[in-house]
Amino acid sequence: MRELISAGAIAMRVRELGHEISRDYRDSPGLVLVGVLRGSFCFLADLARAIDLPVRIDVMALRSYAGETGGAVEMLAGPFDPVEGADVLLVEDIIERGATTARAAGMLMAGGARSVEVCTLLWKPSGGGTPGRYTGFEVPDAFVVGYGLDLDQQYRNLPFVAVLDEAGGAPGA
Ligand code: IMP
Ligand code: MG
Repeated sequence: MRELISAGAIAMRVRELGHEISRDYRDSPGLVLVGVLRGSFCFLADLARAIDLPVRIDVMALRSYAGETGGAVEMLAGPFDPVEGADVLLVEDIIERGATTARAAGMLMAGGARSVEVCTLLWKPSGGGTPGRYTGFEVPDAFVVGYGLDLDQQYRNLPFVAVLDEAGGAPGA
């Protein structure tokens, strides 16, 4: 595996995003960060601490069938509190096709959110999805892992983002 985005670069970008969000939502009547599990758990925790405003934290769990074009997105759980009247910021690990984000955003709008915007750590333009209003980094058309992102539930605990090689990337390779 090859490091693509270092822990330091992530920390710096998260701080920038936190400042931008704090500025943009200064007058919000109620900001809720809704993290999409499981991939956003690192980003959600760090981003929340970079935001200098009162904020509620919630989560949703979705399962997307990535490899399959136009594949279904299954809703598993959450959000756990009503989002009615709230300014919701959907926190994602990566947008590829954009199907997961669209499904989650639709559900939050249907729940009566005052606004729904997207903050994604990574955006893979080759996937065809639109970036979030807040986007951390663009990534190439390759499978990335780490800082929350997995391959078969492995690698989520890497403190950096890495690209797996063609062979699937043996740990430590
Ligand atoms: P989308 O619905 O195509 O935008 O897919 C988004 C979801 O697919 C993400 O939330 C990830 O769980 C997964 N995904 C897409 N690309 C990657 C990748 O390169 N590494 C790990 N997971 C990915
Ligand atoms: Mg995933």
